[in-house]
Amino acid sequence: MRPSELPDYAARNRALWSAGDRNQEEWGRRQWTTEEIRWGLFGVPEDDIHVLPDLHGTDVIELGCGTAYFAAWLARRGARVVGVDVSPVQLERARAFQREFELEFPLIEANAEEVPLSAASFDLAISEYGASIWCDPFKWIPEAHGLLRPGGRLVFLCNSTLCVLCSDDDGRVHEKLERAQLGLGRLDWADEEGEGSEFQLSHGDWIDLLRKTGFEVERLVELYAPEGASTNPHWDFVSAEWASRWPAEEIWVVRRP
Ligand SMILES: C[S@@+](CC[C@H](N)C(=O)[O-])C[C@H]1O[C@@H](n2cnc3c(N)ncnc32)[C@H](O)[C@@H]1O
Repeated sequence: MRPSELPDYAARNRALWSAGDRNQEEWGRRQWTTEEIRWGLFGVPEDDIHVLPDLHGTDVIELGCGTAYFAAWLARRGARVVGVDVSPVQLERARAFQREFELEFPLIEANAEEVPLSAASFDLAISEYGASIWCDPFKWIPEAHGLLRPGGRLVFLCNSTLCVLCSDDDGRVHEKLERAQLGLGRLDWADEEGEGSEFQLSHGDWIDLLRKTGFEVERLVELYAPEGASTNPHWDFVSAEWASRWPAEEIWVVRRP
C-alpha cells in the first residue's frame, strides 16, 4: 500500500505511527506481558465491566492494532484473530512481540477504512485507540459493519467526549471546557513528535451514525480511573485524579442485527 493512495489524514497518521517509538515498545511489552484483559489508560479490568462476548472459537478483527496486544489477549482466550494496521513499523513491532511471546496470528497492512478481507466474515470487530480515533468514523464504522456477520459486535474504546472537550491544543486535559462541542469531528494537531489527525464525535452524533449504519447500540461504558490508580507514565495527557472524577474514556458496544 502506497501512502499516496491514502486520504491525507491517513497518510499523516501512517507517517506519525511509523516515526519514532511513541512509547509503543515499552507499553506494548507491558501489555503483552499482562495476562488479564485491561481497558484503557488506567487498566480497568474486563472482569469488572464485562464488555466482551464469549470469545472461544470466534473470528475477531482488530482495526488499528498497533503492537497487537489486545488481539493477543483475545487469541489467548480461543479467538481466531486478525490484526489490521496502516503502519508497517507498528506491524513489525507486533511481529517481534509475536515471536517473543510465541503467539502467531495474521497481521495485515491496510487502511482500516478499506480492509481487503471478505465481507461478513467476523463475529467481533474491536478497536482500542486504533481506527476508533485515527480513522474517519463515517468510513470505518460502515466498514466494520460490513466485515461483521449478522449478530456480530463492534466494540471500540476512545477518549470520552468530555475528555476531548477539556483538552487544550497540546492535548492536555484540564478541569474546564477548552473547546466547543459544536463542530467536533476531525482534529488536526502537531507536536515535536509529528503531525496527526484524530476524529472525535459527540454522543448524539455517534448514536446517529451507528444507527444509520445499521447497528443497535447495546452499551456505552464510561471508564473512570479505579481507586488507587496512578497517572499512566506512557500516556500522561490526563491525570488519574481527573479520571477518578470524570470518565476519561468510553467503550461503545454495538451489534449488527
Ligand atoms: C494507539 S496505537 C494502537 C493501539 C493499540 N491498542 C496499541 O496501543 O498498540 C494507534 C494505531 O492506529 C493505527 N492507525 C492509524 N490510522 C490507521 C488507519 N487509517 N488504518 C489502520 N490503522 C491505523 C496506527 O498505525 C497505530 O498503530
